[in-house]
Amino acid sequence: MKIAILPGDGIGPEIVEQAVNVLQALGEKFELETAPVGGAGYAAHGHPLPEGTLKLAKEADAVLFGAVGDYQYDSLERALRPEQAILGLRKNLGLFANLRPAILYPELAGASTLKPEVVSGLDILIIRELTGDIYFGQPRGVRIAPDGAFKGEREGFDTMRYAESEIRRIAHVAFQAAQKRDKRLTSVDKANVLETFQFWKDIVTEVHKDYPDVALEHMYVDNAAMQLVRAPKKFDVIVTGNMFGDILSDAAAMLTGSIGMLPSASLDANNKGLYEPSHGSAPDIAGKGIANPLATILSAAMMLRFSLDKAEQAERIENAVKKVLAQGLRTADIYEAGTTKVGTKEMGAAVVKALG
Ligand code: IPM
Ligand code: MG
Repeated sequence: MKIAILPGDGIGPEIVEQAVNVLQALGEKFELETAPVGGAGYAAHGHPLPEGTLKLAKEADAVLFGAVGDYQYDSLERALRPEQAILGLRKNLGLFANLRPAILYPELAGASTLKPEVVSGLDILIIRELTGDIYFGQPRGVRIAPDGAFKGEREGFDTMRYAESEIRRIAHVAFQAAQKRDKRLTSVDKANVLETFQFWKDIVTEVHKDYPDVALEHMYVDNAAMQLVRAPKKFDVIVTGNMFGDILSDAAAMLTGSIGMLPSASLDANNKGLYEPSHGSAPDIAGKGIANPLATILSAAMMLRFSLDKAEQAERIENAVKKVLAQGLRTADIYEAGTTKVGTKEMGAAVVKALG
């Protein structure tokens, strides 16, 4: 089994190093190959997603991704910016299904900015469509407005669109995920305003006929944002489009107190996937050895479960993470009085030790 390791920028290399250590401690025969991506790809080969990196990602059975982005690349033209690497990988590998679980570990209930009773025991799964919507819709750009009240003025524009098959396939992923959980699915849309999302709602309702055992509700995105902070435990699985999913998943992440704990999986139609922490490259703390490696380590566990058919090894990792939390070990982002503050390397080493 070949795993492409793409550490990227900022804290990416530090946290990925710890996840690799954990993978190597499992006693499996993985072939690991590393390649530069994001700002690191631009620095090495003049492009955020160098040809060799894309080739490696395509031929591997799974991709472990760190994070991309750094201040020094902010002034590059859009096509060369680090973010294009992750967008390009999603599109080129057909990774249309993004799974972002938000789980609150009981030991971390105090780390949330919400009252503990609102979030303790939280276990929700956000499924975000990842290769369509306004993120990729054409045409887009800046032009001279051809008509309307602002005719002749410069305007920026993007196109929101979803094809029927795109909605159907993500709906199937979501209903099937709900079947394996509490059998409740919330489809988030903006059908009261947007044609694209009235269509989304209609298609999800049709796909529901194949899954009569799952309870489906529809919710407008503004209400969903409110319900997520009001009573997040009422949700089981949420499915939504690319743009709304981007926003809601950050909100959901913060319910758990630290975005440093949350893994994610981006899957294609055959469960090949890219696995990355839900957080970004955090250039402000890069190289300081204080970043939380647990989201990346938990992403490696998701990789074992979804792409490499090694559910037992995934559980070993997840149990090891629970064990180090129970031991009171905390990186700075989840530190509270009475616990033990550790750095990135110590946290990774503790997980390796806890694998048993
Ligand atoms: C995410 C990120 C990306 C996105 C950026 C880095 C392009 O915010 O994975 O949520 O918007 O999808
Ligand atoms: Mg985001």
